[in-house]
Amino acid sequence: MEDGRRVLSDVVSTQVDIHRRWGGVVPELASRNHVVQVMPVLHEALTRAGKRLDDVDLIAVTSGPGLIGALLVGVQVAKSLSLATGKPFVGANHLEGHLLAIRLLEDAPEPPFLGLVVSGGHTSFYEVRDYGHYKLVGSTRDDAAGEAFDKTARILGLPYPGGLPIDQLAQKGNPEAIRFPRALPGADNFDVSFSGLKTAVLHHVKKHGLPEGQGLADLCASFQEAVADALSKKFVGAARRLGLERLVVCGGVAANSRLRSLCLERARERGLKLFLPPVRLCTDNGAMIAVAGYEAWRRGLRGDFSLSADPAWRM
Ligand code: KG4
Ligand code: ZN
Repeated sequence: MEDGRRVLSDVVSTQVDIHRRWGGVVPELASRNHVVQVMPVLHEALTRAGKRLDDVDLIAVTSGPGLIGALLVGVQVAKSLSLATGKPFVGANHLEGHLLAIRLLEDAPEPPFLGLVVSGGHTSFYEVRDYGHYKLVGSTRDDAAGEAFDKTARILGLPYPGGLPIDQLAQKGNPEAIRFPRALPGADNFDVSFSGLKTAVLHHVKKHGLPEGQGLADLCASFQEAVADALSKKFVGAARRLGLERLVVCGGVAANSRLRSLCLERARERGLKLFLPPVRLCTDNGAMIAVAGYEAWRRGLRGDFSLSADPAWRM
């Protein structure tokens, strides 16, 4: 990335095919494959950008939160590159990366805004008073929204990760076919809950059998509607209560077509402005980590050789 905003190349190496047969990410396989892929990806990124390692001013690496083994591979590579080249490095927060992907838009929002980070591991509302100042104001009480998509896909016999296949099937289905529960724990908080929804899908399948064809599309659409409805309602309501006029939705589940359209609709109804990264910047990518690393550096954060991975790093 150049000047903190312009992406010169963004190479994503996905391990989805390796983990799919296990129905989810196998941590040990993830870190081993990181070891295999990291240098070819680095090489490809430099080649596509038309740069050499020598041209680089700063190396940013995800140092948390996430799977410890996978994080450690990245952190060791960043340190090694730094040691070999004398270039500085900085640890970036994965969640801040999702949130700051929005900085890559032409028309990026200025704080304050309300951010929703919605991914495979997280579903959290952050009040962003300034870049670098994030206040957690609400989150899921059980499953992350992405986890709900992945677990539901598993129940339905769809491939991992389940978000995209459910989204695609839902396009052909009726979202009102089945009324699944919207768990909105109280009006006095900004929390959501998804484990009941997943259980409701399981009960439905036990009672009526595994659906096929139109029935499957209807179930996917109804499930997706329940997630998008609950999340967008709570999110837009929270922005109103906190007096924030700008909203950002990010993370892998922000790629969901129904969540995007419903958040846009509800924000517009209330005169609020919603910012959405393009789909390719919603799911995990390197560009978002470059932005987060650059911003962390500007705030004075520096990586040193004692930097370790922090699997539970809170933003
Ligand atoms: O941010 P991400 O790429 O990785 C994590 O940090 O977790 O998010 C991955 C999650 C998975 O649970 C995946 O099923 C979900 O994002 N996802 C989607 C869609 N695309 C990816 N969920 C719903 N609809 C989609 N179109
Ligand atoms: Zn992510």
